[in-house]
Amino acid sequence: MASILLCFLVSALALISSPPPALSQNLPPIVNGLSFTFYKSSCPNLDSIVRGFLKKEFKKNIGLAAALLRVHFHDCFVQGCDASVLLDGSASGPSEKKAPPNLTLRPEAFKAINDLRALIDRKCGRVVSCADVVALAARDSVFLAGGPNYRVPLGRRDGLNFATRNVTLASLPAPTFNVSVILPILARINLDASDLVALSGGHTIGRGHCASFSNRIFPSRDPTMDQTFFKNLRLTCPSSNSTNTTVLDIRSPNVFDNKYYVDLLNRQGLFTSDEDLYMDSRTKQRVIDFALNQSFFFERFGFSMVKMGQLGVLTGGNGEIRSNCSARNAGRISMWQVGEEGDSAAY
Ligand SMILES: *[C@@H]1O[C@H](CO)[C@@H](O)[C@H](O)[C@H]1NC(C)=O
Ligand SMILES: *[C@@H]1O[C@H](CO)[C@@H](O)[C@H](O)[C@H]1NC(C)=O
Ligand SMILES: *[C@@H]1O[C@H](CO)[C@@H](O)[C@H](O)[C@H]1NC(C)=O
Ligand SMILES: *[C@@H]1O[C@H](CO)[C@@H](O)[C@H](O)[C@H]1NC(C)=O
Ligand SMILES: *[C@@H]1O[C@H](CO)[C@@H](O)[C@H](O)[C@H]1NC(C)=O
Ligand SMILES: *[C@@H]1O[C@H](CO)[C@@H](O)[C@H](O)[C@H]1NC(C)=O
Ligand SMILES: *[C@@H]1O[C@H](CO)[C@@H](O)[C@H](O)[C@H]1NC(C)=O
Repeated sequence: MASILLCFLVSALALISSPPPALSQNLPPIVNGLSFTFYKSSCPNLDSIVRGFLKKEFKKNIGLAAALLRVHFHDCFVQGCDASVLLDGSASGPSEKKAPPNLTLRPEAFKAINDLRALIDRKCGRVVSCADVVALAARDSVFLAGGPNYRVPLGRRDGLNFATRNVTLASLPAPTFNVSVILPILARINLDASDLVALSGGHTIGRGHCASFSNRIFPSRDPTMDQTFFKNLRLTCPSSNSTNTTVLDIRSPNVFDNKYYVDLLNRQGLFTSDEDLYMDSRTKQRVIDFALNQSFFFERFGFSMVKMGQLGVLTGGNGEIRSNCSARNAGRISMWQVGEEGDSAAY
């Protein structure tokens, strides 16, 4: 009862107190070589090309927004935001799906990135990196789902290295991890507790697989989980090997808002990594703050996304601008592929 009341109170407060989106953006330091005007002369309409394309795609499939946001997270967490996640042959890439991210990265997201890149190429030539396309697609996924329109510094170059299975596994915090385990993993890439709470808010859209939260419902209910929520999850996932999925934010599964944090206050977070944000004293207050003030969440989310979006970026003469987001450019790859392209003379 108390939790229902709290929920109502919080929803009512959020409704009354959310002011219009802030015009200025709080920014972390911007890495040398990245800038907000990077494609100003080489692809002046880049923003509207990306937004127009995704607007149409989301009308067909709103689930794509969460999928694209996730691709950017995975890309940045594993050896930096260099589009290595898109490479066929990468442990988390579109073809060789061997590492656990397999469970969350959807083929239609990879297709959308490739289609979008092809459209940009037709309008501007091959000047925009796949890594920048991923970062912009993530931002517009957030914005078109109702979230903040944060500004994205651009100029990333595409990486030449595949992410191995081991590197992928070691870099991505699993949904079954608690805050104590996740904080040191994030600290290695200079993200802190406040980044963790803000970035976890990406779970305000999207779905989770039974396997990712079966640790909380089998063999019995995780005591930090609401009873009714638990019962419903057991219906969706009759066994721990069920291949079903369920929404990450039960209040507004397709809207980018602060309801995810209201879920946590009501002990209706799906993953251990979600609910523990409210259980751990280092992150609890921020969860409450975000549940009470959506503008504050949006502001901090934009800040942490720009911070995360600069992890291990390649700039200047490093890396390359891929011609095909799923493959390194010919001449960078094995001899047989160079031969196949018929342009080995160029290298
Ligand atoms: C990953 O996906 C592939 C193909 O979709 C599937 O064969 C494989 O079993 C999946 N791996 C895991 C760990 O789910
Ligand atoms: C990857 O991890 C597995 C087990 O965790 C280990 O046996 C293997 O040696 C590792 N491979 C590399 C290349 O580090
Ligand atoms: C967090 O998870 C680790 C590893 O499973 C466990 O040892 C630890 O007790 C957990 N901490 C809390 C506060 O639940
Ligand atoms: C999937 O979920 C539905 C309810 O949402 C349930 O009836 C069904 O048994 C589940 N299927 C599997 C394979 O777990
Ligand atoms: C799940 O495992 C049980 C046995 O533990 C088996 O009977 C069932 O067929 C499995 N279901 C799926 C969807 O793999
Ligand atoms: C909510 O957060 C915004 C952005 O940080 C802030 O300007 C505003 O004062 C906060 N509102 C309340 C009621 O605390
Ligand atoms: C892009 O590269 C992938 C992986 O090598 C390949 O399967 C695909 O056909 C390529 N796409 C185009 C348009 O060349």
